[in-house]
This record gives sequence, structure tokens and C-alpha cells, in this order.
Amino acid sequence: MTLDPGQVFQNAIYIAGAHDWPLTPAEWEERARAALEPAAFDYVAGGAGSEATMRENLAAFERARLRPRMLAGTAERDLSVELLGLRSPVPFLLAPVGTLSIVHPDADLAVARAAAATGVPMVLSGAASTTIEDVAAEGPLRWFQLYWFNDREVTASVVARAEAAGYGAVVVTVDTIVLGWRDRDLRHGFLPFLAGHGLAHFFSDPVFRARLEAPPDEDPLGAAAQALAVFPNLALTWPDLAWLRGQTRLPILVKGVVRGDDARLALEHGAAGIVVSNHGGRQLDGSVAALDALVEVRAAVGPEATVLMDSGVRRGTDVLKALALGADAVLVGRPFVYGLAVGGQAGVEAVIRQIAAEVDLAFVLSGLRTVGDVDRSLVA
Ligand code: FNR
Repeated sequence: MTLDPGQVFQNAIYIAGAHDWPLTPAEWEERARAALEPAAFDYVAGGAGSEATMRENLAAFERARLRPRMLAGTAERDLSVELLGLRSPVPFLLAPVGTLSIVHPDADLAVARAAAATGVPMVLSGAASTTIEDVAAEGPLRWFQLYWFNDREVTASVVARAEAAGYGAVVVTVDTIVLGWRDRDLRHGFLPFLAGHGLAHFFSDPVFRARLEAPPDEDPLGAAAQALAVFPNLALTWPDLAWLRGQTRLPILVKGVVRGDDARLALEHGAAGIVVSNHGGRQLDGSVAALDALVEVRAAVGPEATVLMDSGVRRGTDVLKALALGADAVLVGRPFVYGLAVGGQAGVEAVIRQIAAEVDLAFVLSGLRTVGDVDRSLVA
């Protein structure tokens, strides 16, 4: 793999006597804050309401304590996972994050290149700053995250484009049928979409463009307003998933589930997998920590179902804790966005390499050779 084992990674830092990049999650966040406009930084760093859920996501990882096994022979390791046909050298992927052009001009392309360079797949956001096709041109390692619009023809068109461009799965996000109440963004009066960010899939879509009175380059605000009109979809119910199922041959994962009964409903209605997530605390403040929800969801769906999780993963040890509590893999969100803010593609790569190295050391020190060795007994 192109990712260094943990010992190699940290020995290189000790030998050099320095490291070129921020190291701790807090350092990355502070460097990103310094690099970004306050409104852009707050859009990324902020959550909904009092941000209680955002804090709770981190606290849940903090509470979970590992029970490592000793002398288990970990000289040879393989940390790779295969998820519905998608391989990653490590048990994490890059979460779908929209409007990345507020963070760096290279936006999703920088992330796609970092993904290609490290072999760690990305999930392209449905509210990306780069088109489905332009990201696909960077390599084959990816899934597509769908926002399910209130306009079925636009939704179907976007899904068809993702399938044609070679994406391996559709991750439909169900916790964002409308944007959450976000204090910081309301305070700034800042919504990236109205400034033209995150609308690449809309503006490049023939069905969406046919809805417009003037093309986006002639009337950007009118086109953005039309995109915002198509976005909220409060009428959706589980049986609608059958319609989406009929639009594509790709497996569908449902992202944003935090209850066992909802996870079962998703699978019953044709989902191939679940992403346990509260959107990084950006949607319903007061929701349970994603790590706690993971335990409930895994118990509800049984050992065979494909279950990923995100919201609060900051370190390699967090990845291991989530695996022990029932995840097949996790998604890393804000950390790679801070990497993008600090150093573009190289910054994203640095974050991936650090977390991968820390995961590897966590495996070594816990007596684990493969992801299959991880079980519930690893967490107290
Ligand atoms: C997101 N997230 C997100 N999710 C999604 O399905 N589609 C999207 O377009 C976005 N956009 C987005 C933008 C920004 C700035 C952030 C921070 C997050 C949610 C993301 O996929 C993931 O669920 C969270 O980032 C996980 O929380 P942490 O670990 O980043 O705190």
C-alpha cells in the first residue's frame, strides 16, 4: 500500500526532528481557521443549534475505552476492507462534504487526487463544487452521495450520470431533507449555495438546466434559487426508496440513520447498507452521538449487514473504537476538510496518512492483524 505503516511514519518524524504538517486534530482546525474567511471556517466547523450533538459525537469516542490484547503476533497486517465491491487499504473513506470551493479553489478535485494517491476512496458530495464527470476523470475510487430532490426527474438524471461515470454506489443522505438550524451560519448570513458554491451537479445537468429561464452563467442567482427550490424534500417516506432502487443498478446506502428501527426499514426497502451518522451534528441538535447510535443499529440489523458510521472520527483510535462497536468502516469528515484548507491536495493527503498511521499503530498495540480480528470485546 502507498500508506506507511505507523512505525515507519513516526520514525520518519523523529529522525527528521520535525513534521511539515499540523499533527493533532486541534492543530489542524486552528490552522484551517487561520487560512479561511470566518464565515467559511464557521460553515465547516459549526453545527446545529447549541452544538450539543457535535460535542457529544466527540465525547462518545472519548468515553469508549479500548481493551487491547498483548503478544498476539502483529508483525504482518492487512488493514484493508471491501465494502460492496469498493476496496480501501484502511478501514475509512472520505465523507461526502459539499461546497468545498469555499475552502480551496481545487475543491473536490484536490480531494479526488489525494484519494487516488493514497488509495483511500472518497464519497463525492451531491452538493459538490465539481461535476460528477470531472471528479470521475481522476480515477475509479469512489461512491456518489445523493441529495434526493423534490424533483424526481432531476434526481434521476443525477443518479444516471453517477452510474454512467463509474461510481460504485449511491449514498443517499436522509437526514438533510432541509437544512438544520445553524446558529453560526445564520449569524454570518452565509449560505454557500447562494454565493454559487456546491451547485456543480445542478448547473451541469441537462434536466435541471431545462427548468431555468436563463442559463446559470447569465443569471447565477436565479439558478441558485432554483437549486434551493428543488432541494428540500419533506414528503419523502421509506416506500419512496423503491423508486430510487428502480433508477439504478448500483447498491444504495442510506446515510443519516441513528435508530435501529430506521436501519431495519432502510434494509427492508432495498438499501444495501447503512451509514450511521448525525451529519457531524449539523442537522438536529440534541440527537444522540453517532457512536452510541452505531451500537443500537448494529444490534438491530445483525452481523451481516453493511454498516458504516461517521460523526466524530478524529483519530486512528476512534476508527478502531467504531469498528469494535459494530462498524465495517468509518467516514472521516471535517479532518480532511481542514487538510484541504491548510494545504490543498497535499494537506488532504497528510491528514489521510496521519490517520492511517495511527490506525495501524492502534492495531499493532491492540493485538490485531486484520479488520476481521476486531470484535466487541476490544471496547470496555
Ligand atoms: C458535510 N456533510 C455532508 N454530508 C452529506 O451527505 N452531503 C454533503 O454534501 C455534506 N456536506 C457537508 C459539508 C460540511 C462542511 C461538513 C462539515 C459536513 C456531513 C459529512 O458527510 C459527515 O457526515 C460529517 O462531516 C461527519 O462529522 P465529522 O466527523 O466531520 O464531525
